[in-house]
Amino acid sequence: MRKVLTEDLKAGMKVAKPLYLADGTVLLNAGVTLKESYIQQLKERNIPALFIIDEDLPDVEVPEMISDQTRLQATQTLQECMNDISLGNQFNARKVKKAVNNIVDELTSKRHVVVHLNDIRSYDDYTFGHSVNVTSLAILTGMSMGYNKLELRDLGIGALLHDVGKITVDEDILLKSEGLTDEEFAEVQKHARRGYEIVRETDGISSCSAHIAFQHHERINGSGYPRGLTGDEMLEFAQIVAVVDVYDAITCDRVYRDALEPHEALEILEDMMQAKLNHEIVQVFFENVAIYPIGTLVELSTGQIGIVVDVNKEDLSSPVVRLIKEDDDVEIEEIDLMHNEGIEIADVITDSKRDEYINT
Ligand SMILES: [Fe+2]
Repeated sequence: MRKVLTEDLKAGMKVAKPLYLADGTVLLNAGVTLKESYIQQLKERNIPALFIIDEDLPDVEVPEMISDQTRLQATQTLQECMNDISLGNQFNARKVKKAVNNIVDELTSKRHVVVHLNDIRSYDDYTFGHSVNVTSLAILTGMSMGYNKLELRDLGIGALLHDVGKITVDEDILLKSEGLTDEEFAEVQKHARRGYEIVRETDGISSCSAHIAFQHHERINGSGYPRGLTGDEMLEFAQIVAVVDVYDAITCDRVYRDALEPHEALEILEDMMQAKLNHEIVQVFFENVAIYPIGTLVELSTGQIGIVVDVNKEDLSSPVVRLIKEDDDVEIEEIDLMHNEGIEIADVITDSKRDEYINT
């Protein structure tokens, strides 16, 4: 299967994975053949992309970071928390802990988890989907840094709740894609401190988790907000969440901006953000991210075209590539770039150019 942007969907394509809405209902089930009316509905709902069954890769699955069930439980728990907060009530800390424990248990029970950047969320539930992603990515990074389960839970709770302060910010401002006035930007920035205050006042949540909400927009060179803390003053937990928050924001399919591919995100995090984010954490984080996720169409340095069908955890920039043959040769040929030192990936072929290379 592969991810196809909604604007590139065509009637007749088959859905590979169920598409859930924020409330847990299934909008489209796996196996459904797309009709024009369905595609229209996806557009109306601002759903940016869909997983479809790829005829070129019928046997290749994109592994999930966490199960749909665990993801939904966390999304719904966060949604309930936000509802409680907006009503002026305390949120259910026990439920939050349970949702995060499940994510920690699932991630720590798997070996060699690799992030495949395969999350799809609808625009209207961006905060929920984004926060659950940030939670999984932060826990995964904490695991690589040798954290124990208790630390992973505190980190995960802070990550899940890092943006709860957004409930106090005017939705119209939050959904504005660009051109915020100084006043509006100041309003958005308030979500960090307000989130901290909300989480801090909740019984049963550690102050570490509350400080993640407070500090997740701080930058190690002091250029962040709300307090302009430097790296020495920031919690390591908050530095982790800062890295994965930036990563998830620049790689997700927000409707108004084209998502970046993982290799582009790596360049941004390594170069542009070098002064602002903890470089060691960026490095550790990228040990878990498939730079070329399964299903990516690539051009090799030999000029051959192929599709990534597996990744090597030991060297994520050298995946296994299945070559696309020009003739009718049905024999499958795969090159493991980790064991073919002279060959590397020269370019990634984006979806819009895909038809020029295959199925022609
Ligand atoms: Fe935030």
